[in-house]
Amino acid sequence: MSGKILFVDQSGGMGGAEMGLQDIAAHFRARCSVLLLSDGIFRERLEARGVSVRVLEMPAAVRGVAREGKFSAGMSALPGLLRPVARGYSLARAHDVLYANTQKALVVACLLGAAARRPVIWHLRDILSLEHFQSWLIALAAFLGNRACARVIANSRATAGSFVRAGGWPDRLRVVYNGIDASEFEVAPAEIARDGKFLVGLFGRLAPWKGQHVLLEALALAPDVDAIVVGDALFGEDAYAAKIRRLADQSRVRLLGFRPDAYALVRACDAIVHTSVAPEPFGRVVVEGMLAGRPVVAAAAGGVPEIVEDGVSGLLVPPGDAAALAAALGRLRDDPALCKRLGEAGRRHAMAHFSLRAMLAGVESVVEEVLR
Ligand code: UDP
Ligand code: GLC
Repeated sequence: MSGKILFVDQSGGMGGAEMGLQDIAAHFRARCSVLLLSDGIFRERLEARGVSVRVLEMPAAVRGVAREGKFSAGMSALPGLLRPVARGYSLARAHDVLYANTQKALVVACLLGAAARRPVIWHLRDILSLEHFQSWLIALAAFLGNRACARVIANSRATAGSFVRAGGWPDRLRVVYNGIDASEFEVAPAEIARDGKFLVGLFGRLAPWKGQHVLLEALALAPDVDAIVVGDALFGEDAYAAKIRRLADQSRVRLLGFRPDAYALVRACDAIVHTSVAPEPFGRVVVEGMLAGRPVVAAAAGGVPEIVEDGVSGLLVPPGDAAALAAALGRLRDDPALCKRLGEAGRRHAMAHFSLRAMLAGVESVVEEVLR
């Protein structure tokens, strides 16, 4: 097939949604463009992989609409969308299908799709629940998914379920798990100063729901464990980032900020933790730990139990339970054989179920369905 795809993503920085889209767009590079609603390192990375990118900066009123934002703020941002949509019109006309990768991108893609009369695919990478969004945003997302999208791709069964619970129609829904190129974990481990203690790594942007504070609490209960926390605030969570920096100053955690070489750092750790206190839609960082052959301890909610089988391919703990996390870390620290067993089983499982090839095939089949 040869229809042209216009991907739309709101972020200039790299979150999991952008890591995923980077691989998808690179795969389709001969017949796609990416429209970004904000400039940044994501554009550079896409261009480095030969993907053509256009940036349409959004006015401040649109940029300011947040997941926890009020309905009135959303409504007053609407007029601000008209200009960018008018400017994106000819780009949309030059493609056969629009593909929204984030929530704001969904709104823009649906407006562009309606104006340019092009079908829209929505890659839903969020759990549409009150833990993550205001109710009006959930209703808007379900409405657009039903009325303005030809297909909705969910990144896990948990995410798909949240779409249906929000009123989304199941007939257009497809689950395509994230896939990650296992060969990228053949990199040399990053050099980190170590004093012989068991070293765990927590990767991901700093945000209250990602729960970095839970690791800090757990470490107070697990004296022989050291930790690195890798990632930075990406979507305006600066107050939380400041709080984590303050807490880290009083502990032995090292905050490394956002690192483009995250995979080399994963390889330098003895175990990987995941601490989200709200259901994680998917959780690339969990799969990445597994692909690196490290035992993972992850919060059992959202898509995570679809990735990790407790005691077999990793350990699951209740979200927000610092004592359970500390106990799991203590178990791993004291039992190298358990680490090896979980790490090896995790790697095998992740390679079999979360391969880049399977994700690309899944996305491609949805795109072709729509183009037909
Ligand atoms: N990541 C990174 N550098 C960092 C922190 C995180 O490259 O400093 C990457 C990480 O390797 C993962 C992604 O960011 O691929 C986070 O994706 P995930 O799905 O876990 O969470 P999201 O941010 O999408 O909610
Ligand atoms: C989102 C989710 C994350 C998921 C990523 C890739 O950003 O928060 O859980 O892994 O998208 O689909």
